Amino acid sequence: MRPALLLLIPALITLLPAVLSSNTEPGLPAPSNVHIDSYNMKHIVKWDPVKVKDESMPVMYSVGFQLYRDFRELCINITETECDFTEKIQSTWRGKMMVQAELGSRRSEWVVLPDFQPSKNTIIGPVKSLDLNSHSENLAVDFSPPFSPIPDVLAIEYNLSYWKEDSREKKTVNLRSARTYVLDNLERYTNYCVQVYAHTPYIKGLMSDPVCKTTVTDMTYIVVLVCVLVFVLIVGIIGLLVIPEKPLHQAVSKIKNWLDGPYRIPSHVLDYLEDPPPLAQQEYTQNTLEEQQCDHISIVLLDPCQDDHEEMRPDHHQSDSDKT
Ligand SMILES: *[C@@H]1O[C@H](CO)[C@@H](O)[C@H](O)[C@H]1NC(C)=O
Ligand SMILES: *[C@@H]1O[C@H](CO)[C@@H](O)[C@H](O)[C@H]1NC(C)=O
Repeated sequence: MRPALLLLIPALITLLPAVLSSNTEPGLPAPSNVHIDSYNMKHIVKWDPVKVKDESMPVMYSVGFQLYRDFRELCINITETECDFTEKIQSTWRGKMMVQAELGSRRSEWVVLPDFQPSKNTIIGPVKSLDLNSHSENLAVDFSPPFSPIPDVLAIEYNLSYWKEDSREKKTVNLRSARTYVLDNLERYTNYCVQVYAHTPYIKGLMSDPVCKTTVTDMTYIVVLVCVLVFVLIVGIIGLLVIPEKPLHQAVSKIKNWLDGPYRIPSHVLDYLEDPPPLAQQEYTQNTLEEQQCDHISIVLLDPCQDDHEEMRPDHHQSDSDKT
């Protein structure tokens, strides 16, 4: 009998949990993948939904924060699978986040996360609107904080890294809390890149995207050059048109007269073009001023014709004499 009883004990022990659970309601699974998203001092705890078969009611969740001796309810009986607790705990509080699922009278175990303190565990994003302005050998850097307002407890500082675009050698400057900085003694016409991140004694923030700029861009020179040219042109035009009886004004008048007047071929060009026989020369010299006013291009064309007539006359005479 005794050995038989002894054999029964392990069997009873293995059966015990099944017997107990049949007497109470089946437990609700705890939420899984519970985690805190904390970015730029905005804090949200999130989890995956608890799936239950034949659920007529939605599964509800409660979120609490366990401080040293204090328990704070952050979200109660919510159906969403996240709880924004940004405004519900103070930046310096340190405690454990707890999440529980609930369906009717059934409750899951609390899921307890490791210690969380907003001012130490938040992620600080990159600085915003990072901008570079080039002034000869300097680059003026300015940017906005990653978020605002920044609580004093964070004691945020900025580190700026810069390098020549083709070089791997980076230099880093701690700007403290300043959000403007001038990089000086840089090489001219060189492309420099800048990255900035915020940090605190506990948090190393995220690096901004690099922003690059060439010291004194060619564009600046082009703009300056165009401005100077336009200025000179305007001054020139004013000088020519407004101030009369000046050499420039007279020169313009001459050009204007020439443009308005009849287009003449200069006489020395005419001399060169025509090597007129005495008769033509006579005719030419007999020409009146009126004729000179006429289009001399036609005269130039005429003169060779006259030459032809001169040469052809004997031929005509010959042909005439041949006929006779
Ligand atoms: C949350 O739900 C439980 C059960 O469903 C209920 O007993 C409790 O009063 C509710 N709490 C609040 C604050 O509504
Ligand atoms: C910020 O830059 C300074 C100066 O280079 C450096 O000593 C410090 O370690 C940097 N801080 C962080 C958090 O990287």
